[in-house]
Amino acid sequence: MKYRIALVPGDGIGPEIVGAAVSVLKKTAAKYGHEFDFTEYPAGGCAIDLCGEPLPQSTIDGCLASDSVMLGAVGGPKWDSMPSALRPEKALLGLRKALGLYTNLRPAAIQPALADACVLRKDIAAKGFDLMIVRELTGGIYFGKRGRNEAGDAAYDTEAYSIAEIERVARRAFETARKRKGHLTSVDKANVLETSRLWRETVHRLGETEYPDVRLDDMYVDNAAMQIIRDPSFFDVIVTSNMFGDILSDEASQVTGSIGLLASASLGETSRGMYEPIHGSAPDIAGKDIANPIATVLSAAMMLRYSFDLAEEADYIEKTVNDVLSEGWRTADIKSPDDTTWLKGSEMKDKILEHL
Ligand code: IPM
Ligand code: MG
Repeated sequence: MKYRIALVPGDGIGPEIVGAAVSVLKKTAAKYGHEFDFTEYPAGGCAIDLCGEPLPQSTIDGCLASDSVMLGAVGGPKWDSMPSALRPEKALLGLRKALGLYTNLRPAAIQPALADACVLRKDIAAKGFDLMIVRELTGGIYFGKRGRNEAGDAAYDTEAYSIAEIERVARRAFETARKRKGHLTSVDKANVLETSRLWRETVHRLGETEYPDVRLDDMYVDNAAMQIIRDPSFFDVIVTSNMFGDILSDEASQVTGSIGLLASASLGETSRGMYEPIHGSAPDIAGKDIANPIATVLSAAMMLRYSFDLAEEADYIEKTVNDVLSEGWRTADIKSPDDTTWLKGSEMKDKILEHL
């Protein structure tokens, strides 16, 4: 089969890691007889430099015309003082909205081969965990009305959710739970926020009417933040709003101790998704060839699985990465302090290609 993949490498380490994922995709395509066509588009800081805006219309059009989008990361200190409409982050939010990607899947699991890297207390880490955060991605406070008063001495942002917005992401979460351990935790702040009360009501109604086989419970977000550290093995799938999901997914990924390994998928109504590593553009290490390409390579595997329905190919890439890690190969971010054989980013890419 032939697939058109839009590449949006972005800033910082983005181009290095997307380049690595492209090599892996090419080799996988050759092995399985597929054809992947890659076209690159600017977004983020590099687009500001190139075209004066973070998300040129041509990038949106190119992504819309593709079968899927692979994104590196956007942003960096160079553009931090830009006015809000011209910040690199606008590109990310704009792409999510333009492509209708209302569901963000962010898995965070402790890798047996990397149990040592886990930052949790040993007895907690020993229980292991494998959780999937399903974050709402195109609504809530990120996209609500915001502004300042005339005097400029007060500002506001608004959280708003409709039942339809809650239902569509909740369905995705219930279905995700069904394919895993069948346990869904809906995270909200229903003791304070009206949007959270609507969230909770809606998720429960869906649970009772459409997904009675999924075990559903609720948790306040502050408690969830605590439980992710105290007992992450409690969780299977978490569904939550845009901002809560942003915060909890960083927390969950960091407790694995290997944020450089964590992939994500953003999905909408069509099969076109956007795939990106969870980590950011890491401007401090850009160009030094030490960034770990694995999160992006695993994001490419998610693309094959969720957008192209190529489960066997996705399994193959994931297994290959596991093999490389099990053999003990490490990059700077996941090596132990006394490891002198760690690989540069490009060497890790080559190691994966060698095993494919
Ligand atoms: C993420 C990032 C973005 C977000 C930023 C860069 C706008 O933190 O993808 O989690 O908050 O969604
Ligand atoms: Mg974030």
